[in-house]
Amino acid sequence: MTATIDPFHAIAIGELAYQLASQGRSVIHMEYGQPSTGAPAAAIAIAHRVLDADPMGYWENPQLKARIARLYAEEHGVTVAPEQVILTCGASPALVLALSTLFAPGARVALARPGYVAYRNTLKALHMEPVELDCGEAERFQLTAAALAAVEPAPDGVIIASPANPTGTVIEPEELARIAEVCAERGIAIVSDEIYHGISYVGPVRSTLAVAPQALVINSFSKYFSMAGWRLGWLVVPPHLLEPARARMGNLFLTPPSLAQHAGLAAMDCRDELEGHVATYARNRDLMLEGVARLGLSHIAPPDGAFYIYADVGHLTQDSLGFCRRMLEETGVATAPGIDFDPLGGNRFVRFSFAVSTALVEEALARLEPWFAAQPRLVEPA
Ligand SMILES: Cc1ncc(COP(=O)(O)O)c(C=O)c1O
Repeated sequence: MTATIDPFHAIAIGELAYQLASQGRSVIHMEYGQPSTGAPAAAIAIAHRVLDADPMGYWENPQLKARIARLYAEEHGVTVAPEQVILTCGASPALVLALSTLFAPGARVALARPGYVAYRNTLKALHMEPVELDCGEAERFQLTAAALAAVEPAPDGVIIASPANPTGTVIEPEELARIAEVCAERGIAIVSDEIYHGISYVGPVRSTLAVAPQALVINSFSKYFSMAGWRLGWLVVPPHLLEPARARMGNLFLTPPSLAQHAGLAAMDCRDELEGHVATYARNRDLMLEGVARLGLSHIAPPDGAFYIYADVGHLTQDSLGFCRRMLEETGVATAPGIDFDPLGGNRFVRFSFAVSTALVEEALARLEPWFAAQPRLVEPA
């Protein structure tokens, strides 16, 4: 039997947003988690140059693999050999590779709820079973070692995301070490999605590899490097799983785009420009935190990283998709509905992405303030 998986509802909001924009409406895109800045200038310059010179065949750029390996040594103090890096078309195929390398159909894999929509749905598409652990405001919406230790029987694997989507919260280093201990004791394999590394407001976030050398680590050029549409990412694989992981990459995806691999290598040395984007996100974060308070949204976990605010709007709606649709139609501000991230409690949440310019954050808040003030409150059951 084929698996039934839910759509990514933010995509429907995105489509409506583009439709409204094509009718001349002014739309602010806070629905997708993607930087609006484009690739670094030096990456674009290299891309222009190689287009005339490179035949763009199937390719795995050895310099890029070596550069990524160096990133782990320099930023995380862990040794990764270039051969352990599999270049992928973004984090999404890296997730498929990681899960299908580690687990057979029927495997039980734990993850935080709320969590990134594709974790749950990719597991289901691969006929694996998501074991969702409720992580509320008290846990800052993050997995804990205690929650993982309490799952009976022990799951086959766990997906860790820090900073996380949709909340931007980070697992504290001590807690991450405890999670790694629980996994080692109970034989739980770790997939760590580190796609938001580099975008942190609480100092550097260390790779899970520092505490769990056998973890499979996912990363991407879509977020920090501001290259979402170039479709480039990577998976770090421990030596004993390299052969099966590479076999899957070759058969399922071949190689990522050659053009993106040239540009990605250049992007890794564009620190000043990329840190400029992080400084913009930090300003936007502050504005958003003040702004959502003015909207009357007090149940949030201030993001430690990434570029999201996941806010409880349960006093106004029990239908987050309808709420986002109406907000977009009436204000031009597009947001992602919480049901994407939490099929149980998500109907009372909305995710704002602030990876847009500071001027657009200000404009969005100016539009949203009167709109939120005019929304009727739901009557609490007596
Ligand atoms: C947590 C997380 N993982 C993976 C992805 C997929 O990213 P990519 O564009 O690299 O496929 C996203 C995209 O938003 C994400 O938020």
